[in-house]
Amino acid sequence: MDRIAITGGAPLKGTIPIYGAKNSALKLQAAALLPAEPLILENMPDLADTRFMSQLLRSLGVDITWIKETRTLRMHAAEIASTIAPYDQVRKMRASFNVLGPLLARVGHATVSLPGGCAIGARPVDLHLKAFEAMGADIHIEQGYVKAAALRGLRGADIEFPFVSVGATEHAMLAAVLAHGDTVLNNAAREPEIADLADCLNAMGARIEGAGESEIRIKGVTSLKGARHPVVADRIEAGTYALAVAAAGGNVLLEGARFDHLGALIKVMRAAGVEVEVDGSGLRIISANGRPDPVDFETEPFPGFPTDLQAQAMALLCVAKGASRIRETIFENRFMHAPELARLGAQIAVQGNEAVVTGVERLVGAPVMATDLRASVSLVVAGLAAEGETIVNRVYHLDRGFEGLEAKLAACGAQVQRLREEAA
Ligand code: EPZ
Repeated sequence: MDRIAITGGAPLKGTIPIYGAKNSALKLQAAALLPAEPLILENMPDLADTRFMSQLLRSLGVDITWIKETRTLRMHAAEIASTIAPYDQVRKMRASFNVLGPLLARVGHATVSLPGGCAIGARPVDLHLKAFEAMGADIHIEQGYVKAAALRGLRGADIEFPFVSVGATEHAMLAAVLAHGDTVLNNAAREPEIADLADCLNAMGARIEGAGESEIRIKGVTSLKGARHPVVADRIEAGTYALAVAAAGGNVLLEGARFDHLGALIKVMRAAGVEVEVDGSGLRIISANGRPDPVDFETEPFPGFPTDLQAQAMALLCVAKGASRIRETIFENRFMHAPELARLGAQIAVQGNEAVVTGVERLVGAPVMATDLRASVSLVVAGLAAEGETIVNRVYHLDRGFEGLEAKLAACGAQVQRLREEAA
C-alpha cells in the first residue's frame, strides 16, 4: 500500500486549484440513471470513489466516457440493463446506495444492498427508505438487500425529516423528480451539494424549488432529458487546504474556493488568527506560521461547521496557544484521528462527543494511519506543521477524496511525496 511522507516546517506559497466536489459528483453520477439521454458533468474530480461509481453505473447499463483533459464525464443510460446493486459494490462505497432512488423512479423497481455501518458511525438509511415509502414504494429488506418496487410509479408526498440528512434529502430528490404529483421535503439539508444536485436536475427538465433551504418543493415530471452541468467546487477540499496553510504557515490562493460555502470554517480560522480573504474567484489564506489562538466549535449541518472538516481543524488546533473544545454532533465515532494525532505529540482528551485539545508548542513527526478519508488528511495537515518526518499509512483513504494531494501541496513548497508500494 502506498504511503505519504511529509517533512514539516516548510511554509506554503502559491496557488491550489480546487476541483469539483466528491460528495456532489457521486449523487450527480446517480442522476445519470434518470434520463435516456446523456448527462455530461464538467469540472469532475477524478477520484477512487467517482471511478467506483462509474463502474457500478456501467454494470447497470450506463455508457460512460471520461475525458481527462477537460475533466468531463459523459454518462448515457439509453436503457437500464440491470436494477441490482450488489453487496460488494455498496459495501465498498456507501454512496452507491444512491442508485436506488433513480432506478425506482425510472424503472419502477430496484434491489440494492444495505450499505451497513462504517468507521465513523452506524449510518443507517431509514430516512431514505421512509421517504420512498411515503412516495408509495413497497420496501422489503431481504438478506441484507433493499427490494423496492413502485410498479405504477412513485407519487408525490409531503415528507418531514425528523432530523437533517444530506443523503436522504438528495436521495428523495433523485426519486421525486419523476413522481406523479408534488413532493415537499421539510427539514431538508441545506448543503451546497443539495443546491448543485437541484441545479443539475432542473437543467435536465426537473422542477425543483427551494434547494438550499429547509423546504424543497418538487413538481414531478414524466421524463427528464440530457444536460451538461459543472460540478460545484469542493468546499471540503478547499477547507482542508485552507487549514493546511494555516498549520504550515504561508500565503496560498485557493482557486475556485467559495466564501459563501465556507462561512463557518472561515469564522473559526479568523478566530484562530488566520487571514482569509476573497481574492478574485477564490480565497486567499495567509498565516504567519505562529501558533494559532484556541477556538471552540461544534459540527452542525450546513451552514454550521462541517463534520468533514472537524479532523483537519483539530489538527491545526493541536498547536494552539491554549485549549480548544470541539463537539462532534453528526457522527457518533468521528474522533479516530485523536489517538493518531497524539502520536505526533498532540494532547487531546476525548469524552463522548467532545474533545478538548490542549495546544502544545510543537508536534514531532511519526508514522501514523487512519481509518477514514478526512481523518487521514488531518494527519497530513498535522504533518505539515510537525518537526521532522511524518509517514501517513493507508493512503487509499486519501485517494477516495483528494485528487493529486501531494502534487498540489508540493507545488506550494511542501516537502511531501508518495512512497509507492514497491518502494514503501
Ligand atoms: C454525507 O453523508 C457525506 N457523504 C458525508 O461525507 C458527510 O460527512 C455527511 O453527509 C454530513 O455532512 C456523501 O455525501 C457521500 P447524513 P450522509 O445523512 O449523507 C444519520 C466524507 O468524508 N442518518 O447527513 O450519509 C447519520 O447516521 C463523508 O466525504 C440516519 O440516522 O450523511 C448521521 O448521524 C463522510 N438515518 C446523520 O444522520 C438516515 O437514514 C447525518 O447523516 C440517514 C442519516
